[in-house]
Amino acid sequence: MDNASALRARALRFDWRSIDWFGRLRLASGLTLFTFVGTHLLNHALGLFGLDAMELGREVFTWLWRGWIGTIALYGAAILHLSLVLTSIFRKRGWRAVGWPEYLQIALGLCVPLLVAQHAIANRGAHEMFGLDDSYALVLLALWVQKPELGLTQCLLILIAWTHGSMGVHFWLRLKPYYPTLRRFLYPAALLLPVLAIVGFVDGGRQLEARLADPIYRARLVAPLRALPPAAPVWVQEMTDRAQIGFAALLGVLFAARLARGAFERRRDFIVLSYPGERRVNVRRGTSVLEASRLSGIPHASVCGGRGRCSTCRIRLGDGKAEVEPAGEDELTVLARIGAPEGVRLACQVRPTHDLQVTPLLPPTASARDGFQRPADHQGSEREIAILFADLRAFTRFSEKKLPYDVVFVMNQYFRAMGEAIEHAGGTVDKFIGDGVMALFGLDTDSGRGCAQALVAARDMSIALRQLNQNLANDLSEPLRIGIGIHAGTVIVGEMGHGRVMSVTAIGDAVNTASRLETITKEFGAQLVVSKRVGKRAGVNLKVFPRMDLDVRGRSEVLAAYIIADAQDLDRVLSAAAAVAEEGGAKA
Ligand code: FES
Repeated sequence: MDNASALRARALRFDWRSIDWFGRLRLASGLTLFTFVGTHLLNHALGLFGLDAMELGREVFTWLWRGWIGTIALYGAAILHLSLVLTSIFRKRGWRAVGWPEYLQIALGLCVPLLVAQHAIANRGAHEMFGLDDSYALVLLALWVQKPELGLTQCLLILIAWTHGSMGVHFWLRLKPYYPTLRRFLYPAALLLPVLAIVGFVDGGRQLEARLADPIYRARLVAPLRALPPAAPVWVQEMTDRAQIGFAALLGVLFAARLARGAFERRRDFIVLSYPGERRVNVRRGTSVLEASRLSGIPHASVCGGRGRCSTCRIRLGDGKAEVEPAGEDELTVLARIGAPEGVRLACQVRPTHDLQVTPLLPPTASARDGFQRPADHQGSEREIAILFADLRAFTRFSEKKLPYDVVFVMNQYFRAMGEAIEHAGGTVDKFIGDGVMALFGLDTDSGRGCAQALVAARDMSIALRQLNQNLANDLSEPLRIGIGIHAGTVIVGEMGHGRVMSVTAIGDAVNTASRLETITKEFGAQLVVSKRVGKRAGVNLKVFPRMDLDVRGRSEVLAAYIIADAQDLDRVLSAAAAVAEEGGAKA
């Protein structure tokens, strides 16, 4: 049964156990705490409008978070989030399996309980225990006037808690298709809010200092403190010490338990994971394949950091797959989204208990976008696309007369100019071969737009070459010249190569034909030869150029093509194609 069918079958018998409750509860509790911190910072920021504005904001803040719903939400979320994070720390197999951003986020999160304990107990705790009205002015009196070192600690807490939460939101949203747009607003807001909060806090402190010059104000402000029972400060200190020492002890127990588990598991059997290239690694049973890759130093794509969302860690299971646990609901959803065939799983979700053969399917450098591509793009599919070949003329003569350094310099300028023209038009540079370039158009769009993009690219390459010749006039004995061939047709597109040299490329008759058209440019002394099919698919009238029926080696039929002496002449017919190409580029 393939993954999509498995998902459908699973949907018919909904299984609560297969849902990633752990991740969902951690997200929900984290977002609740993040909202609390955000509203707290907003309240601080009101200090920019005066102490009275801060007090007014506090009314709303306490209404929100000190009512019974807010209290349950806040403290429930705090306990739940902390418990889930500590559990996940215990369950993680080796810190090398964690990327440094996640490591930093966890470390920042663990600092929060230690730093927040005193503030929470002195305010909310004293309020509940002794009825203290912990107004902003009173808190500022303590943090700004009496114990500025505590004020500094709270500023640090603001930065740590906010950074921890912002990173969590980033990890959560980074794979959403709308995130690139949303990020433009979220990043500035995430940077601005803590800055405004600290500035508001400082402003509020200064205003309070000015008001304290009035003895009546001062007496009224400290009256609630005087009304506290003498035991209150001792209680606050004791509770703070207990909370901080208790949490530190809890962390100590947690890490000791991890060590003990490690020692226990070392005595258990290991299993062997086999990777391509006859690479075999020994890991403990239950280690995820992604963790195994990381622990063994095998580069493995994992854009979402192992959260089972990006699909970039996908693997094909080989020998031993029958022993692997079936995918859960969330993994099936991701696999169905990318149309994964049977036997393809997410490396971060598969925890083999027996020897297993695995093949990572995306290169280690895969991006979030690659994760959303259907595997057909990588595993091979028939597509109609446009193929462009370009080659420098008389390059051998040029290179013989130049020092190697000069040749490399000129070639790099040339490749950069051609690559930019191709990519700007919406194409993909497939490879640079010697002094030649192969580019594909229509991989991300339809073939009509691909053909239009290829024509635009040919024109822009010609313009770029002319510009390059002007820039290098002093270095070149004669201007660089190129020949370009473009053809469109159905080819096999897929990821091919070996090891690190893997890339999406195309093979097929149409590729060979495009290459021959490039060679034929020499016979006509023309810069561009483009097949009739390309013009037709692009909706561009190429009839203004001379047409030839070409006998192309390897083809049984003649090929109608247009001979264009200077690719810049395409300008005459390209306004329509440029619009189509741009539309395709935008969609891509
Ligand atoms: S690492 Fe993202 S799905 Fe596995």
